[in-house]
Amino acid sequence: MPENTSPFKLPPLPWPENALEPYITPNTLSFHYGKHHKAYVDKLNELLAGKPLADQPLEQIIKATAADADKKAVFNNAGQIWNHTFYWNSLRAKGGSNPIGTLASKIESSFGNLDELKKQLVDAGLTQFGSGWAWLVSDKGTLKVLKTPNAESPLTTGMTPLLTIDVWEHAYYLDYQNRRADYLKAVVDKIINWEFAAQNLAKA
Ligand code: FE2
Repeated sequence: MPENTSPFKLPPLPWPENALEPYITPNTLSFHYGKHHKAYVDKLNELLAGKPLADQPLEQIIKATAADADKKAVFNNAGQIWNHTFYWNSLRAKGGSNPIGTLASKIESSFGNLDELKKQLVDAGLTQFGSGWAWLVSDKGTLKVLKTPNAESPLTTGMTPLLTIDVWEHAYYLDYQNRRADYLKAVVDKIINWEFAAQNLAKA
């Protein structure tokens, strides 16, 4: 995850826009990254211009505004910037690898096996009503799957995010229309970045 402070910039994708084909197409990415993610960056810069919060790192802005109803727009746009950058890094161009080392043993102790974790990730994404995110997190050393609505993330509840899957319709509609389950299964089976999860676990 790149360092990110105000004025915020749209971070580069960690792979070329055609790298996730056929599971996520360049057409989806051109809108999802080029329009949606960019719009959150532009909006946050607009909202924070000249404000004291503009001097804070992105994660700090998210934590500082999570419980403040008057700063909902700042929270939503900051959260969506962070969540999207984390999501791009949760995907890898050449999927198919399996978790190894500490991550693999934690998956075994927390879920029994990798298939159960994959099933829980798909279920979390499918049962998130409306827009939101499915997450693999470390909660005091135990791995858990959870879901959050809209721009929310486990950052504000003291857990360490390991990877995420965007289940806003803009993440999959051009490629899968209403078939959110097919999108989730493709991501989990074909392009999830276990190395990124392992790096985040090592820092937890
Ligand atoms: Fe998104």
